[in-house]
Amino acid sequence: MRISTLAKGIGMEFLGYRHRRLRQNETWRRAVRETKLSTDDFVYPMFVTGGSGVRNSIESMPDIYQLSIDQVVEEAKEVVKLGIPAVLLFGIPDESSKDSEGSPGYDPKGIIPSAIKAIKTACPDLLVWADVCLCEYTDHGHCGILGSSGEIDNDATLPILSKMALAYADAGADAVAPSDMMDGRVGAIRRVLDDHNHSLVPIISYAAKYSSSYYGPFRDIANSCPSTGDRKSYQMDPSNVDEAMREVDQDIAEGVDIIIVKPAGSYLDVLWRVKQAFGMPTAAYQVSGEYAMIKAAGQKGWVDTEEVMIESLLSIKRAGADLIISYFAKEIAKKLKGNSGS
Ligand code: PBG
Ligand code: ZN
Repeated sequence: MRISTLAKGIGMEFLGYRHRRLRQNETWRRAVRETKLSTDDFVYPMFVTGGSGVRNSIESMPDIYQLSIDQVVEEAKEVVKLGIPAVLLFGIPDESSKDSEGSPGYDPKGIIPSAIKAIKTACPDLLVWADVCLCEYTDHGHCGILGSSGEIDNDATLPILSKMALAYADAGADAVAPSDMMDGRVGAIRRVLDDHNHSLVPIISYAAKYSSSYYGPFRDIANSCPSTGDRKSYQMDPSNVDEAMREVDQDIAEGVDIIIVKPAGSYLDVLWRVKQAFGMPTAAYQVSGEYAMIKAAGQKGWVDTEEVMIESLLSIKRAGADLIISYFAKEIAKKLKGNSGS
């Protein structure tokens, strides 16, 4: 029975229990803390571009860069030093190489396969996840290929996604992460990987990926804004949760290994339900807009960036995330190194 109900039942307003006893100093708070962030929870996203010695900053993503492969390798080494277990790679190919089917995405000599090889050579124990999607590689910027009347051709997109996933697995990726939201892609990718000796390469799917305005800064940094229309015919409507459960259920049936809910902060209810219902390894993606808003308000002096960072990450872990993909990964890892928890 709840204390409040009990109190009413016996005619008392105040039972005398003092919750503040266990809050009175930091040592007590540390001792009874229910949720603790660990460096092991984090995945750091990185954006790979051509050339060498390139570190392009992007205004809407403070402290995040477009990096050439040599620089990505340096960052990867730092990530390892900080104890972060995994990175997630996004490719930024040369604009002029983009075409209607996103062929630079599955070129075995393309930007991501080359980056995977370079990182795995320098940091063999770091988990390298590769995002699988067409939008960074198509001239129209959509996540699927377009049919004759400009509609997304779901089924014709599947073999292309599979080719991309295969190119990344062949290059040594530790996992592939389809973020396109085409139906049937987990099964299609699983079959192709299995047929090519990659039965142990996990698929991490953005099963519940919402059509979100929080992706704005990502599209600046990845040059992946759709040239016409929007992504609402394939990404999920922010109003729906039951639908997310059906998406996750189908990805599990098709053989998915880790589920991603994305964005994180505005979808903690989805994250909670998915984790509770399926008990799958579940990752949440704290996306570019969530990061940018915290950074921007901090720069203005309106909030304390570090405190809000920790609070936002705690809320994601509390809601059930086993892993958090976040642009704050390095920052929080540095912070956690300096103390024994947060
Ligand atoms: C591409 C992709 C996007 C993000 C991850 N993969 C953008 C989108 O779908 O438009 C967003 C990540 C972020 O905002 O940090 N499919
Ligand atoms: Zn995409």
